[in-house]
Amino acid sequence: METPDVLLSIRNHTKRFGALTANSDISFDIRYGETHCLLGANGAGKSTLAECLYGTYKPDGGEILYKGKRISFNSPRDAIKAGIGMVHQHFVLVPPMTVLENVIAGTDIPGITLKMKQGYEKLDLLCKKFDINLDLNAKVSQLSVGEQQWVEILKALYVGVELLILDEPTAVLTPKETEKLFSILSAMRNNGISIILITHKLREVMAISDNVTVLRKGKHIATVETSSMNMEELATLMVGREVIFRLEKSNVPNGEVVLEVDGLTAKNNGGHDSLHNISFKVHKHEILGIAGVAGNGQQELFDCIVGAGNQTSGKICLEGKDISHLHPKQIIDLGIASIPPDRIKEGLLMDFKIEENLILGRQTDKKFCHGSILDKKNINNFAIESIRNYDIAVLSPTQKTRLLSGGNLQKIILARELSQNPKFVIASSPTRGLDIGATEYIHKRLLELRDEGVGILLVSEDLDEIFNLSDKIAVIYRGNIIGTVPAERSYFSSIGLMMAGIPSEAV
Ligand SMILES: Nc1ncnc2c1ncn2[C@@H]1O[C@H](COP(=O)(O)OP(=O)(O)OP(=O)(O)O)[C@@H](O)[C@H]1O
Ligand SMILES: [Mg+2]
Repeated sequence: METPDVLLSIRNHTKRFGALTANSDISFDIRYGETHCLLGANGAGKSTLAECLYGTYKPDGGEILYKGKRISFNSPRDAIKAGIGMVHQHFVLVPPMTVLENVIAGTDIPGITLKMKQGYEKLDLLCKKFDINLDLNAKVSQLSVGEQQWVEILKALYVGVELLILDEPTAVLTPKETEKLFSILSAMRNNGISIILITHKLREVMAISDNVTVLRKGKHIATVETSSMNMEELATLMVGREVIFRLEKSNVPNGEVVLEVDGLTAKNNGGHDSLHNISFKVHKHEILGIAGVAGNGQQELFDCIVGAGNQTSGKICLEGKDISHLHPKQIIDLGIASIPPDRIKEGLLMDFKIEENLILGRQTDKKFCHGSILDKKNINNFAIESIRNYDIAVLSPTQKTRLLSGGNLQKIILARELSQNPKFVIASSPTRGLDIGATEYIHKRLLELRDEGVGILLVSEDLDEIFNLSDKIAVIYRGNIIGTVPAERSYFSSIGLMMAGIPSEAV
């Protein structure tokens, strides 16, 4: 039966990849002008469902009705023509081109005039209507990540989107950019546009959505009104068990210094000074949190510690030994594990097998290699154990890495880095893109390592994560540590101030 306020009706939708059923008999509706969150653990099938709605994949069963009519798209082009847009987590923009050129070139569907002047006027109006402050003649390469995302949204608005799907749009945004994105999305909703938002952040679900659909292991678990739920209830629906939001931290006294950074100055890849005379110490049994808005030197600090930075002065010592000028492989061998900020670029070889990625950088370790011969059995056993411990959703350890869901890619790096008895771990946003069950596991694992005596440097923009795990918090701003405080909630506002560059009670 048709319901007049339903825009999109998903009925018994099924999508398989070989032996794996990524979406199994899923049914729910999207109404006109609603914001509908799609929730589910890593690998639950959210992106797959979104790509089926957007015409990237062809469903294997069920039907999708749009405005009461059955649709079957052959490509995203058909979806766009029908009024369905999508913002992917990895943008599809051409950086040397301007905003205007990107919007017009990216939307060359028949019937749209390609005249720049008319395009400019139309876009300018859209920017005003949805309160998007963008210079349409600016090159995309000069825009921040948040602004690039607006270009993707503009592309959809330009062709008259009626349903916009966003796949984890906030994973790459700062808290401030997220706020702005949400105000644009609210303006769209007020103009009758329906929104499907995929996110792992329950706070965001509560803040922005009218309804929520929860998927688990490819199946539809529930569609509920957001206002009838709280975060704990949503978490339980998602994971299928209760989730502990705040872990107990044991009281272990600090041990000796494991990593010392002394007067570190470094340049970024563009050759500009981006770390200025930074000093701090991380002890055994200690998690030092580094809070700060992205782009304040975190990447350069990470690069220097793992041996890939442009250090110009200062020292980095592991257990008293200067490692500043060592090769990355030597640094790994000394016992430093690292979780990089950009996993796909820095942490994984996407065309390799999962088991190969699980030992990447450690393939010559005695455990995995004898002479020049790889110990396939040990590698395979290690992969099976990691897949079980980290609950990585894969069909087999020999599957190609590229086919994994976003969160499962992340778990491979975590499994690899945290399983090799490190002395020191630098973890950059270790749970970004992970579902709450996996986040809980990683947090537990980091605390366990701390209890065992590992020193940990936790670099994250997520203040909840920083507070829950750290013993001390240092704030980085424009390449300087502008203060260090104990990890107590009473320091929350001083940390906020320091992140904006205002020094506060340092200890
Ligand atoms: N092209 C593909 N070929 C084979 N398997 C795939 C393909 N795309 C996804 N899968 C598998 O389908 C399942 C669902 O993946 P999907 O990307 O939809 O999950 P997700 O809910 O978006 O997870 P995440 O939160 O980690 O992004 C996963 O087990 C994944 O490995
Ligand atoms: Mg996904």
